[in-house]
Amino acid sequence: MTITNGDAQAFFHARGEIQDYTKALEILEKEYPARDGLDVETLLDSDKHGALTYNDFLILPGYIGFPASDVTLDTPVTKRISLKAPLLSSPMDTVTEHNMAIHMALLGGLGVIHHNCSAEDQAEMVRKVKRYENGFILDPVVISPKTTVAEAKELKATWGFGGFPVTENGTLRSKLVGIVTSRDIQFHTSDADPVTKVMSTDLVTAPAGTTLAEANEVLRNSKKGKLPIVDKDGNLVSLLSRSDLRKNLHYPLASKLPHSKQLIAAAAIGTRESDKDRLKMLVDAGLDIVILDSSQGNSMYQLDMIKWVKKTFPQIDVIAGNVVTREQAANLIAAGADGLRIGMGSGSACITQEVMAVGRPQAVAVHSVASFAARFGVPCIADGGIQNIGHIVKGLAMGASTVMMGGLLAGTTESPGEYFVSSEGQLVKAYRGMGSIDAMEDKKAGKGGKDSKANNAGTARYFSEKDGVLVAQGVSGSVLDRGSVTKFVPYLIAGIQHSLQDIGVRSVKELHDSVNNKTVRFELRSGSAQAEGNVHGLHSFDKKLYS
Ligand code: IMP
Repeated sequence: MTITNGDAQAFFHARGEIQDYTKALEILEKEYPARDGLDVETLLDSDKHGALTYNDFLILPGYIGFPASDVTLDTPVTKRISLKAPLLSSPMDTVTEHNMAIHMALLGGLGVIHHNCSAEDQAEMVRKVKRYENGFILDPVVISPKTTVAEAKELKATWGFGGFPVTENGTLRSKLVGIVTSRDIQFHTSDADPVTKVMSTDLVTAPAGTTLAEANEVLRNSKKGKLPIVDKDGNLVSLLSRSDLRKNLHYPLASKLPHSKQLIAAAAIGTRESDKDRLKMLVDAGLDIVILDSSQGNSMYQLDMIKWVKKTFPQIDVIAGNVVTREQAANLIAAGADGLRIGMGSGSACITQEVMAVGRPQAVAVHSVASFAARFGVPCIADGGIQNIGHIVKGLAMGASTVMMGGLLAGTTESPGEYFVSSEGQLVKAYRGMGSIDAMEDKKAGKGGKDSKANNAGTARYFSEKDGVLVAQGVSGSVLDRGSVTKFVPYLIAGIQHSLQDIGVRSVKELHDSVNNKTVRFELRSGSAQAEGNVHGLHSFDKKLYS
């Protein structure tokens, strides 16, 4: 039989009475009082189907009544501080040092500087975040008048650029005496000569406080390659480079406190007495948010520390954790926590659940804690287990205000450490749990993070000084190269906007409200549903995620 127009009506008529199509909405409302899919409480009813994590469910699509670009991602990270993107990088020594923290903040998120290094090193990183000004090079390579032409040539080969400012002491904040450009040294054959013989001394400089736009203008008019910025005594404070002019991106989402031009700085500490001294140094360096870094945050140490920080530094916001239950959260909230970090055992480099028998699947942990904390206006971070944009949105749908990522960001250019080629010939970077034997042994040996030196304390999160035997809670490995966060984070942001558009909500707040009032619905995924939701049946494929 061939099917022609009108046959479908006959087909359905044969099965029973067919309704007038114009009444679809009326009938939906009258005859289907319950919305399609499950509300969040039913979804997470662990009596019925065990405790769920991100891959165990999906969010049902809603109505798209606006463009994805209309979706705003403003969200609180503490009681007082909000971000424009719900994305945090984890305080791990293979993830967040100053470079990651600067770029996460520029892109609307926040990087939390790890503490597996000396307090001095950590404070210096906080200072670099606070001093950062888009376009200005705050730690230029500076040489001294005694540097030889040969050494300058070597520096050029190492750094891939020329144009080194020469100061009296060979350091920043010392009197500027000249600039050595590539042209000055290129054809100079007496390599043993000091750079003072070849450097340019007819310098065009700009005073500290010059705006980026003004400095760019001076650079353009001067036709020079570099513009040194000097203080009133002629000391070098920063540098602007012509080759960077084109690269000076505009960062409209940059995380800044109202009325401040500086980026927000966050760092992690432990809960020992020595951490109080560490925090004092971080606060002096300009810290805004401190994270008390513990895998099990519900402890007398953390409660005391929260109270001490709130009393000693009322201007600093304290994020406590980690927690996965309401009871743990209640203690920390009562002690004055301004934010909570949720997750135990869900991290990609984590073996806590296997070894310690404690933890909780992340979706249910986030919902349980975040729905309770919301009653007290305490925002929550869903920390760990984020492998893709879908996981980010699911973490937010479970009530988190932000998500924290380790492994997903460890392979970016801005994470500490160098790329290397794996035995399979792929470009990778090291990534390790802070409770891995590697990280803990580095602590015992006083080695510190990958790019920082000596006297660290970060892995105190996983063992105490008195422990004779190290019990690993994490592994050490590598992750694939992901390029720069300046491309990756905008990809994550655009993806979250599209996902929220599919769900039919215009903001993170509307997502939270719509989950709570049961208009956003969910569905459980069986094992085969999960297989169906992934690429299947292809002979081969290339999973390129963004361009
Ligand atoms: P990821 O984004 O899934 O890689 O998880 C990152 C999170 O894992 C961090 O923010 C920490 O909460 C957690 N984590 C870091 N190191 C360890 C470890 O050694 N054991 C258990 N959890 C860890």
